[in-house]
Amino acid sequence: MQVVETDVAVIGAGGAGLRAAIAVAETAPDLDVAVVSKVLPMRSHTVAAEGGAAGVIRGEDSLDAHFDDTVSGGDWLCDQDAVELFVEDAPKQLTRLEHWGCPWSRTPEGGVNTRPFGGMKIERTWFAADKSGFHILHTLFQTSLKYPSIKRFDEFFSAELLVDEGRVAGVVAIEVRTGEIWCFKAKSVIIASGGAGKVYPFTTNGAIKTGDGMAMAYRAGVPLKDMEFVQYHPTGLPGTGILLTEGCRGEGGYLTNKHGYRYLQDYGLGPPEPSPRKKAMELGPRDRLSQAFWHEMQKGNTIDTPYGEAINLDLRHLGEDKINERLPFVRDLATSYMRADPVHVPVPVRPVVHYMMGGIHTDIDARTSIEGLFAAGECAAVSINGANRLGSNSLTELLVFGDRAGKHAAQFAREAAPADNAARIDAQAEDCARKIENIYAREERKESTAELRRTMADAMEEGCGIYRDEGRIRSTCETLADLRHRLPGTALKDKSKVFNTDLLSILELENMLEVAESLAHSAYARSESRGSHQRLDHTGRDDDTFLKHSMAHYRGDQAPEIGYLDVVITKSPPGERLYGGAADAKAQKVEAAE
Ligand code: FUM
Repeated sequence: MQVVETDVAVIGAGGAGLRAAIAVAETAPDLDVAVVSKVLPMRSHTVAAEGGAAGVIRGEDSLDAHFDDTVSGGDWLCDQDAVELFVEDAPKQLTRLEHWGCPWSRTPEGGVNTRPFGGMKIERTWFAADKSGFHILHTLFQTSLKYPSIKRFDEFFSAELLVDEGRVAGVVAIEVRTGEIWCFKAKSVIIASGGAGKVYPFTTNGAIKTGDGMAMAYRAGVPLKDMEFVQYHPTGLPGTGILLTEGCRGEGGYLTNKHGYRYLQDYGLGPPEPSPRKKAMELGPRDRLSQAFWHEMQKGNTIDTPYGEAINLDLRHLGEDKINERLPFVRDLATSYMRADPVHVPVPVRPVVHYMMGGIHTDIDARTSIEGLFAAGECAAVSINGANRLGSNSLTELLVFGDRAGKHAAQFAREAAPADNAARIDAQAEDCARKIENIYAREERKESTAELRRTMADAMEEGCGIYRDEGRIRSTCETLADLRHRLPGTALKDKSKVFNTDLLSILELENMLEVAESLAHSAYARSESRGSHQRLDHTGRDDDTFLKHSMAHYRGDQAPEIGYLDVVITKSPPGERLYGGAADAKAQKVEAAE
């Protein structure tokens, strides 16, 4: 086994991981940072983000307005201390990126441009055409190269955390190129490994998003928080699930049903023309738009395509010049994958799993319940997203909390007393290596990894989709328990060490099953409807019982235990979520009363 001794290990080299590594290198240049990533940094899923990153910049905007949109968008399940900190730091982080070279799109006067985004009642989304994630990730990657203390271990699959007496000691990883096991001994560890959209069959998420970091932390004893809240993005391409950014609607695109009708006006998001102050319709929040699609489908108003039901995204009225300037990637994707050039025809789209609001439970400094272990980005729940994230808050989130994770991990690494546990840590690393060897040693292949995975993903869509009910969630929980039981029946067809994706598939499936179980059991226990968690058998929000974060605790072979934690409310008591004309009417009433 190869051993690397480092001060800070970062698991994941996407936006959050690179931002965290930069923060360590900036604040503590004498500390070594090992960035351990399953893929080359530029293949991390941040690269796929399109629409932009939110941060107050315009004169008519305010930190309070960004706070209010985020908290109401999250159906009051956000921790408000975290949101206050987030909105305050957001513009600083985005400006920092500008200074590092991020090519934000400009206004005609040369300032940073913004576009409207869903659920944001004032426009505040900074963008780089429709490749914002690509440019942000490039900027972070290039910046990270400036720091000699950052050492990268690309294409290393992190398999298990090393934890002794409540304190992290490092991570064991497989070098994918050689199959060799590496032990990264670290004083602090930051998990920044992204979400787990791949537990579902139809997702915008890249193949790498299998919840590895979430599962590692969970197995090590950190609860997974608010896992039942899964975001369906309203506009994915049927068949592939490729994202067509909300920026399409931010630039003025329409969603129409098979009758050519802008149906969102029937779902509390109208009127069709933007009301003077509160934009909605196509710029409503994602949970509401995805739920409206489901209702249109029940009514028979959706379009039958070879890849399932869809509605139309109509951009034609924007004109070719604007589409080419603001949405060139969307034009390319729609034309390549759907043979639908949005300049000339509407593009069929449908809701698709996009993001996990839940994740590794952290405090506002990205700390977990294990000493020295931090988490940031989509794998973490800090939690600013509550029951429904607003589009464009997540790119900013990974900067704000990646930075915080880096700073606090550096501080921990510097100040922590030395641990006298080398023998126990070595034994744990050997155990992990043995577990992997045991997978190689399995002779009989009783189960197909692909088949188990397909069954898991279908069960998740069936029981934990846009709308849920007790019976279907229970059946999903039963299927997942059965799959976990069957997992040891898998075996390798490919016994080689070099780029053994067969092995990684088994390890990823184990991670996905654990994450899926935490999600399904949290959904089962939450007998109310809030944000993206909609129960057909419990249709109302129940603040008396469920204004709480769910906390899924790992219990080995048994189903997770679900506990609850109070939500932090600082200044916004739970209220009604209002968009479009309804929000206008309320604002007028408040003004009149004042
Ligand atoms: O639609 C989008 O561009 C996605 C943005 C996000 O998820 O924040």
